[in-house]
Amino acid sequence: QNPTWQTEIRPYGTAAIAEAAEWIGRGQPVAIATETVYGLAGDATSDSAVARIYAAKGRPSFNPLIVHLPSAEAAAEIADFPPAARLLAKAFWPGPLTMVLPLLPGAKIAPIVTAGLPTVAIRVPAHPAMQALLAEVGRPLAAPSANASGSISPTTAQHVLASLDGRIPMVIDSGPTRQGIESTIVAIDTDGGARLLRPGPITPDQIAAVTGNAVCAAGSGKIEAPGQLASHYAPSRPIRLDAVDRRDGEWLIGFGPVAGDATLSDRGDLVEAAARLFAALHEADLSGRAGIAVAPIPADGLGLAINDRLRRAAAPKS
Ligand code: TXA
Ligand code: MG
Repeated sequence: QNPTWQTEIRPYGTAAIAEAAEWIGRGQPVAIATETVYGLAGDATSDSAVARIYAAKGRPSFNPLIVHLPSAEAAAEIADFPPAARLLAKAFWPGPLTMVLPLLPGAKIAPIVTAGLPTVAIRVPAHPAMQALLAEVGRPLAAPSANASGSISPTTAQHVLASLDGRIPMVIDSGPTRQGIESTIVAIDTDGGARLLRPGPITPDQIAAVTGNAVCAAGSGKIEAPGQLASHYAPSRPIRLDAVDRRDGEWLIGFGPVAGDATLSDRGDLVEAAARLFAALHEADLSGRAGIAVAPIPADGLGLAINDRLRRAAAPKS
């Protein structure tokens, strides 16, 4: 792909938000932080604007995008909210929860956003930068993670540039993201059951505590969230998981008692580990070592989401 843009990196503020809204009004996507990862935001009501998001990412077009809205009230104009979804919205929005819900007939969402599905993925983000952009644009924003398809999600403006420099007009820099891992995605069925499509910062236990029903695992086999292809989050070097020491030629990412070339959290703190995960993978990828090893991460709470991303990063490239 030839570079089309001199990608501008602008500090977050009123002027940057106004400029970003202008680009979006002209159908061009802009990278901006949410509390999870940086997103590549475009007008979700315009097929051509959304097509430019897919093009910048080089993403296969069967993969639907998350629609970001300023409030649960705005979301109710686009999707049908069964009672369980209303409870979850009240408990976790604004925040890192995405719900897959039936798309309302007549909702002004470009068909390309949902890739033709009768459902739509919706999230009300908490980050002030994304909220400011939503207010300025006054339309729903489709925003996948702001990285080229197949590479690691960006948690800093520098990660965005490393992947999309020359392919988008601007990045708004508001520093590293707080959560560092993409939103939890749950599908809410008509009977009120919740199915986990992607683990994330909001855990199944937290969801079950609100709805009163256990959260089911996503149906195996069927690709329900196509972005969940096994090798979605892939650095370019082979990854070995549950490593307790460094083998020849490896870059070791530590956790807790396992000290490495870098550590996700020497205190063994999962929140800190999630926030650092993608930056650590970027750093390991750039280290020049032949392989990457990662210390064991406990598989509870936020550790579920961290292990999910690590398994995808370690999966053979498809
Ligand atoms: O934290 C996040 O969610 C970030 C920030 C920018 O909001 N966004 C993000 O988007 O991770 P993306 O495009 O990288 O991942 C969206 C996921 C994909 O796996 C996609 O397949 C799934 O959501 N998805 C979107 N619409 C869906 C639908 N109608 N049914 C099932 N899965 C859907
Ligand atoms: Mg992504």
